[in-house]
Amino acid sequence: MASTPRTERCKNSQPKRSQQPNPITIRQPRNSNLSFAAKGLSTRDLTALSGGHTIGLARCTTFRGRIYNDTNIDANFAATRRANCPASGGDNNLAPLDIQTPTRFDNDYFRNLVARRGLLHSDQELFNGGSQDALVRTYSNNPATFSADFAAAMVRMGNISPLTGTQGEIRRNCRVVN
Ligand code: HEM
Repeated sequence: MASTPRTERCKNSQPKRSQQPNPITIRQPRNSNLSFAAKGLSTRDLTALSGGHTIGLARCTTFRGRIYNDTNIDANFAATRRANCPASGGDNNLAPLDIQTPTRFDNDYFRNLVARRGLLHSDQELFNGGSQDALVRTYSNNPATFSADFAAAMVRMGNISPLTGTQGEIRRNCRVVN
């Protein structure tokens, strides 16, 4: 199993969030996808991987700016989200990244983007008059295309600088060192 990817043993060896490339910048295809490109991932991979947001929740603090300030947002959707994410306070209140089917892996994330119901500002950037609009539309209409692209991109991402052999460990609990 020498080639099995591992994770680093020392928790503190992970770069601090503040030292990582700003994810919002990374997700703006028109600006720059340099960090993705440097890792051998394409803009198409970036958009497909973002479809991981078909599942899960985000904290109010990560989408407050979108629901109060953005104009490229469905008004009903913004009102719904504001009900549980006040302009100040409630930072940890949760909302589904995919309002339609928050626990099902499907292409509704992309259907939401076309309807201007992306939860994060950076989600909606993928469908905001830029280079990824056509691909977002394709994924919104073709779940099989999204599934195939997502699987291929996950494999490519998994092949980025994997630690092997004794370089790391496979965590029993991904939050803590074994
Ligand atoms: C592939 C599987 C993915 C999963 C499971 C996932 C999961 C999540 C979750 C749960 C959050 C909410 C975090 C919070 O409330 O603090 C989040 C936020 C976010 N995700 Fe993802 N994500 C994925 C892929 C991606 C990709 C590929 C990108 C960029 C290309 C991305 C960019 C972001 C950004 C920018 C935020 C907002 C963070 C912030 O404002 O602090 N995600 N993601």
